[in-house]
Amino acid sequence: MDYPRYMATNPETPRSTVSLPMPTILTPAPADSPGLSDKFGRQATDLRISLIDKCNLRCTYCMPADGLAWLPKSKLLTLEEISRIVRIGVRDLGVRELRLTGGEPLVRVDLPQIIATVRSEHPDLPISLTTNGVGLAKKAAALKEAGLTRINVSLDTLHAETFAKLTRRDHIDSVFAGIDAALAADLAPVKINAVLMRGINDEQAPELLAWALERGLELRFIEQMPLDADHVWRKDNMVTAADLRAYLETRFRLSPDTKPRDGAPAERFLVSTPQDPDTILGAVGIIASVSEPFCSDCKRTRITAEGKVMSCLFSREETDLSALLRDGSDDRAIAERWRAAMWGKPRAHGMDHTGLGSKDFVQSDRSMSAIGG
Ligand code: 5AD
Ligand code: SF4
Repeated sequence: MDYPRYMATNPETPRSTVSLPMPTILTPAPADSPGLSDKFGRQATDLRISLIDKCNLRCTYCMPADGLAWLPKSKLLTLEEISRIVRIGVRDLGVRELRLTGGEPLVRVDLPQIIATVRSEHPDLPISLTTNGVGLAKKAAALKEAGLTRINVSLDTLHAETFAKLTRRDHIDSVFAGIDAALAADLAPVKINAVLMRGINDEQAPELLAWALERGLELRFIEQMPLDADHVWRKDNMVTAADLRAYLETRFRLSPDTKPRDGAPAERFLVSTPQDPDTILGAVGIIASVSEPFCSDCKRTRITAEGKVMSCLFSREETDLSALLRDGSDDRAIAERWRAAMWGKPRAHGMDHTGLGSKDFVQSDRSMSAIGG
């Protein structure tokens, strides 16, 4: 079989602000490899599409205070392009679940239509959404109605002052209302994503967990990753999974969930109290992307808001699909370029084997908001 050859950037090429990466050839995936396979035997079945890079918060671990240069609307994938990508992914490439992300996906006015369109073609596809929850209260029921399966809401603190410090905005009440609306709309399980920052909200971890358990919310703590536009992430300032477990164990008892993890990024713990260890109050997830990485089990493939494949969150390599989507190329050509991009997925993100924040690790030029969580 003849494979098309694609231009891409070379992952081995060190990138700095003054040198441009050397062009190289994207290696096509062999014809007999199934779906979105890579050279290390992994297969991506979990598709994450960023719908927009814009956001109405300015979390310090993600965005600069003044925001970023947003993509013009003409560059964003359209509803038709998004549904085509999902169709190719599900029909031809073995995608089995879809996560819609941003930036902040609720900022996209056609979000309900996007969900409804994908749902009409894929009645059984799990579709989830990661949102900061601002303005969710008014939209949760419509999203459920459109066919959304479940939701993740980001919330790092229960305190208005800490929230304002972390997000540089004063919207905590809107997030609380959004979480209530998500529960009422049965976008279950409603998961809460929390990032801990040393000296700001790290000591609040146990109260956040108590709050989540009371409401039947699944809390997941995510280690702060070097994905901030300001590039201020420091290994010695990071709250690790081990630190977090120690905080939580001041109040709770954690026992590892024995269910297989199956590529899920969160390690799950069942939660009880030292006083009553047999009564399980719920579960908590810990996503230790930096200190205890799970790259060997990764099942994710990401598409940015402007239609670029990122095979890894930390990748400095991007493969554009939008040109093919817009020049009349057929589905097969798009599928093959996507497969070639994933075939080149790096083994790991480079922070694992040489310790936290190794010298070999070079931070991506993109922030989390510009990739999609
Ligand atoms: N490290 C870890 N998590 C991050 N998020 C955004 N930036 C970072 C970072 N640097 C989280 C958000 C949201 C999810 C999409 O990613 O809090 O929950
Ligand atoms: Fe917005 Fe999410 Fe980035 Fe916060 S972390 S600024 S909510 S995109």
